[in-house]
Amino acid sequence: MQENIWRKDFPILETKVYGKPLIYLDNGATSQMPSQVINRIYEHYQKEHGNIHRGIHYLSEESTKAVEDTRELVKNYINAKNVESIIFTQNTTDSINIVAASIGLENDGGGIVTTEMEHHSNFVPWQQACKHSGRQFFVSPVVDGELDIDELENILKNNSIRLVACAHVSNVTGTVNPIKRVIELAHKYGAEVLIDGAQGILHLPVDVEELGCDYYCFSAHKMIGPTGVGVLYGKTDCLEKLEPVRYGGGMVDEVLEENTTWGNLPYRFEAGTPNIGGIIGLGEAIKYLMEHDVELIRKYEDYLLNYAYEKISSIEHVKILGHPAKRAGAISFVVDGAHPYDIASMLDKAGIAVRSGSHCAQPILRTFDVTATVRVTPNFYNTREEIDYFCQTLDKVINMLRKYSI
Ligand code: ALA
Repeated sequence: MQENIWRKDFPILETKVYGKPLIYLDNGATSQMPSQVINRIYEHYQKEHGNIHRGIHYLSEESTKAVEDTRELVKNYINAKNVESIIFTQNTTDSINIVAASIGLENDGGGIVTTEMEHHSNFVPWQQACKHSGRQFFVSPVVDGELDIDELENILKNNSIRLVACAHVSNVTGTVNPIKRVIELAHKYGAEVLIDGAQGILHLPVDVEELGCDYYCFSAHKMIGPTGVGVLYGKTDCLEKLEPVRYGGGMVDEVLEENTTWGNLPYRFEAGTPNIGGIIGLGEAIKYLMEHDVELIRKYEDYLLNYAYEKISSIEHVKILGHPAKRAGAISFVVDGAHPYDIASMLDKAGIAVRSGSHCAQPILRTFDVTATVRVTPNFYNTREEIDYFCQTLDKVINMLRKYSI
């Protein structure tokens, strides 16, 4: 594999942590931004910041144009049919909450299916919506980190289901779900499908037209953009059916004392002033990915993840969670005789950032009978040398912890 040609664009990677070079392997939690994105956000606040859709003055118009240009970029990036389908939110969690809260207001009685693999953000909003609306809540099982598709079909076949909510990629095991199959199955039984794309959007191509999903949600900060911005993609006919659940300026048509009518899509779901600078940063992140050969980026990531998988699995006492047919972005493991928190905190002292704990995904951890793991999530700006250093350090840390724990 060729040299890493992207790394130089990410200034934070020059940081020293406790005097040691930073090795950032916590990209599943949040990715870092290239200078192009950081500079674009800076430039926005220096030269063009105004509120959008509200003013007939230069700054307002410049900001509005930059936000609407980003909407167009997002639309093209995920191959949506039209910009009305692209709603700016705060993050993936927010996108899912909007749909769940709105569906919670309906009274058709259909159930909601989620899976044991979900991040809490694609689990709790549905559970609560069901609780408040009296819908039935189903959790489709996961076996060794893979969805049990037959069980999912049984749930769909034997119940009336309003929607299936499913992750594109697990944030714990890195399992790439067969979402096309999930979508086809759900549609066969008359249910809509929401895909949580938080961990998928950077590592995999996403073509919502080809997938046929009804909703696809993701966050800018997991795809080299800033925090505080997310996207809710929805088919327009699905979005038209949803009642808004956030009210205020920018989302209305006519406001009378006795009633209010809603504005058009996508603004109906964008109450209040959004994160303007963040949205513009997301646009720049998408430009970066498109201009830097996103296919090559993904090929390199794949190579690096496989390399990491081979090396980590050869370390004594390490057990990797799940053996999915296809993996992207994440490797989680436990170590016999050493706690994930102790491992992560010793790695930190060596300059290595990994995540430890339940990863906001307690249900899938329970399927493995563990309460915490260490998780490594490389990105395209990481290198083979970093993985080598990580593995050598991990080996030493494990030996040290086991020595004192036994
Ligand atoms: N969802 C993020 C993660 O998996 C925060 O770490």
